[in-house]
Amino acid sequence: TETEAQVAAIIEELKGLEGPLLPILHGVQEEFGYVPTEALPVIAEALNLSKAEVHGVVTFYHDYRSQPAGRHVLKLCQAEACQSMGSDAIAAQVKAALGVDFHQTAADGSVTLEPVYCLGLCACAPAAMLDGEVIGRLDADTIAEIAAEVRT
Ligand code: FES
Repeated sequence: TETEAQVAAIIEELKGLEGPLLPILHGVQEEFGYVPTEALPVIAEALNLSKAEVHGVVTFYHDYRSQPAGRHVLKLCQAEACQSMGSDAIAAQVKAALGVDFHQTAADGSVTLEPVYCLGLCACAPAAMLDGEVIGRLDADTIAEIAAEVRT
């Protein structure tokens, strides 16, 4: 398939590196926006790994997606400083407002929700990042704004 051919080209380019699996997965995700299931056997074979090993790595590193992301990507900080400022409760509110759990994409494709571990915005905890832009001091109002924005 075309996907397999594209994956093979990425592997060809990177397999000479030491520890090529992560760079290859990274390259695949850059190309497709996620790591398609179809890519796993191609990568496994090229690197002499089992499919289960490659799959394990993809699921272990939360930066890799197995499915295309939504139109928006919201990352909620779950690291310590944000935890101490109530990020758990905020996460629960966000999940309810958007109808998604972590590592999920809303059914309408509007938004993907991901946890992140420190955005360097600890002074403004609890913090989030929406499509690459940081948002500090999350509260009910900012959550409502985020929910409105991802629906547009
Ligand atoms: Fe959340 Fe640093 S711990 S931004």
